[in-house]
Amino acid sequence: MSIKGFLYHQYWRMATARLKRRLLKQSSPSKLERADWARSLALPTEFYLDCFRFFHQHLPLELQEHRAYFDQERRGFGEDAMHVMWFLLFQELKPASFLEIGVYRGQVVSLGGLLARLLGLSCSVQGISPFSPAGDAVSKYRQDLDYLEDTRAHFRHFSLPQPELLKAFSTDPKAVALIKSRSWDLIYIDGNHDYEVVCKDWAVCSASVKPGGVIVLDDAGLTSAYRPPLFATGGHPGPSRLAEEIDRNQFREIIQVGHNRAFQRIG
Ligand SMILES: C[S@@+](CC[C@H](N)C(=O)[O-])C[C@H]1O[C@@H](n2cnc3c(N)ncnc32)[C@H](O)[C@@H]1O
Repeated sequence: MSIKGFLYHQYWRMATARLKRRLLKQSSPSKLERADWARSLALPTEFYLDCFRFFHQHLPLELQEHRAYFDQERRGFGEDAMHVMWFLLFQELKPASFLEIGVYRGQVVSLGGLLARLLGLSCSVQGISPFSPAGDAVSKYRQDLDYLEDTRAHFRHFSLPQPELLKAFSTDPKAVALIKSRSWDLIYIDGNHDYEVVCKDWAVCSASVKPGGVIVLDDAGLTSAYRPPLFATGGHPGPSRLAEEIDRNQFREIIQVGHNRAFQRIG
């Protein structure tokens, strides 16, 4: 890293820590009810900051610790507030099936398992990912990991039942067949962020999610009113463009937490 880069990084770290301390001086609501979700669409930045505060002030400790574990050694992406979104979605939907496209090192699939255990749900957890460093136009991943074994090790760390994991790209015929093989309660699309690929993921998932089921699109905040604070990101162009193109007669947007936007299938 250049000296300029180093100094900028130090400045960013200090400014971020200061901002977080300032934000946490205010209280979040002690509950974020289903009725509050409409506010996430009207005032997404304000709602995101409430989720950030909720994470630190009210989220069950087990979930905070899960996030801290994946934040260590860069085991996962995402932001604290996203754990709150998954908590709210699992509480509300009580999914019996959860599919993630783009597993990386298992943060969100293991969070699904943990939430199911915490809420007393029976939920099958399925991941589809190349379990390799395969990236896209906006993402590069480290080369030196056995991603499949690493993901399984994280499940062991939390004493969770092992998930079903398919080692494939989401567009591979065997992945498409798996997605189409059942109707899902909850799907999370966070694989390849290129517009063409994320559109293909949406096409197959939107036909395979149950009526009333939900698809969460990651990195889709650039085309919304959301303005990320210093420690967050707005997303990428591909998923953000797709989010604007989703047919609102078939899917209703129900909650946005930062760059994550959730769409519920109508009818
Ligand atoms: C941003 S990471 C996912 C992070 C993960 N959701 C989490 O919260 O920790 C994207 C992952 O998708 C994988 N990926 C890339 N192309 C893919 C594709 N076509 N289908 C499925 N996964 C893909 C990448 O290798 C990487 O593991």
